Amino acid sequence: MTDSRRSLADVVERIESVHRQQGRVFLVSLGAALRSLKLYPLENEQVQRALNDLVEGARALHQVDPVLKMQVAGEFVFINKTRLRLALDQYASLGHVLNTFAEGRLGTLSVDEAVSRNEWQELVKVLLDAEPPEGNSEGNAVRLQSMLEDQGVTHIFLGPPMQAPQELDAEERSKELARRTYQKSVAVTKDVVNGMRMGRGANVRRMKRAVQGIVDQVLNNEVSLTGLTAIRDYDEYTFTHSVNVCIFSVAIGKRLGLSKRQLYDLGVAALLHDVGKSRVPLELMHKEAALTEEEWHVMQSHPWYGVLALFQMQQTGDLPYRGMITAYEHHMKIGVTGYPRPIRRRNLSLYSKIVAVADGFDAATSRRTYQRAIQPDEVLREMWQNRRRGYDPVLVKELVNLVGIYPVGSCLILDTREIVVVQSRNPDPAMLNRPMTVLAVSSDGQVQRDGATIDLSEKTAAGAFKRSILKVTDPAKYGIRPGDFLI
Ligand SMILES: [Fe+2]
Ligand SMILES: [Fe+2]
Repeated sequence: MTDSRRSLADVVERIESVHRQQGRVFLVSLGAALRSLKLYPLENEQVQRALNDLVEGARALHQVDPVLKMQVAGEFVFINKTRLRLALDQYASLGHVLNTFAEGRLGTLSVDEAVSRNEWQELVKVLLDAEPPEGNSEGNAVRLQSMLEDQGVTHIFLGPPMQAPQELDAEERSKELARRTYQKSVAVTKDVVNGMRMGRGANVRRMKRAVQGIVDQVLNNEVSLTGLTAIRDYDEYTFTHSVNVCIFSVAIGKRLGLSKRQLYDLGVAALLHDVGKSRVPLELMHKEAALTEEEWHVMQSHPWYGVLALFQMQQTGDLPYRGMITAYEHHMKIGVTGYPRPIRRRNLSLYSKIVAVADGFDAATSRRTYQRAIQPDEVLREMWQNRRRGYDPVLVKELVNLVGIYPVGSCLILDTREIVVVQSRNPDPAMLNRPMTVLAVSSDGQVQRDGATIDLSEKTAAGAFKRSILKVTDPAKYGIRPGDFLI
């Protein structure tokens, strides 16, 4: 490659990275501005701050392009032709923007660099009234545009919806759908747990819908959703943990041949397995130091609290009775050596045993404030070999089949001295020990951000494998977070 071509490639890459990073800032602040102006008057401090952020975000984008063009197509947002990939916590803002554009029958927003702060303010006001009058949805962009002009806005242009872009293939769409299903489930779980904490009822119907979304997704394309469980959002641990346990449980249930109806029940039970923790004081949940004996006692009461919480929920809807058993039994272990200790011998229900395996795997692979995460392959080995852990070996075997020998999110060192993060199992069942990965650190030690995929089953023309795994490593040693490479 010649020098001038390389430098052109560098420039393109730099601009795209500005689009991606600043585009996210812009989208999040547009969402925040829409939300805050809906709730508060214009003078409100929060509204003003959101507008400032919006102006700043746009200014950064205008430094690389004189016209900022945002396009919304289906579930995707493009900033100057670069598709935005968002972190999970940014989906709420994305939702506001997508809804506003959908209601207003809008597809594009173009903004000239000469735009003023006042014009942004008028735009947000007009967008809040975006919904078209009945029977007049076709030319709504034109109507909104003239509303803007009436307010003296001359640097902002709204356009009608566009077709979903062709270049996104089925796989990209399915991944995006998986991200949305995941994010929605985290939001619902948060709502349920916080609601219980504050003594408010839970929206059972919304929760069931979220579980249905997970079941449908697991039945259609298991890989895309299980892959998301490796994206650990530590601030949201309580909620992502419940969603992860739900995903793993449903996927194990599917492998056992449970019916769709049974998978729904199992999914709801799994999502709520730790709901009793809503009755454990927050200080204790977030405590970084080791817990005292008394504090452990309170923490270990969460199975019981869960049963009580579910009884209360019962009054607001028809929750499956199964959920109570799972909440009660999920820490009991196969030999009933765990907690709570029942008075009589008992056989754990199948759902409890499935949830216990999913719970054990997710809890051990998540880095928590007071413990170091163990690498996923080690966790599987321990769950499989150490019978005192009390997991059903048949179910652990299903989990291994599901997540592979190198589970998603594992960090591997290759014989090429590259470091990769496991993205998914290899679709070829004969290649379970050669997963699909994302390049995280190149052989010269540079951290990579462009998400290049490496298939470890790839061979050279001579028939030898191009790369092989030397060993599993701790990503923290290299200062990387596997989740960053999987979004
Ligand atoms: Fe638990
Ligand atoms: Fe749990």
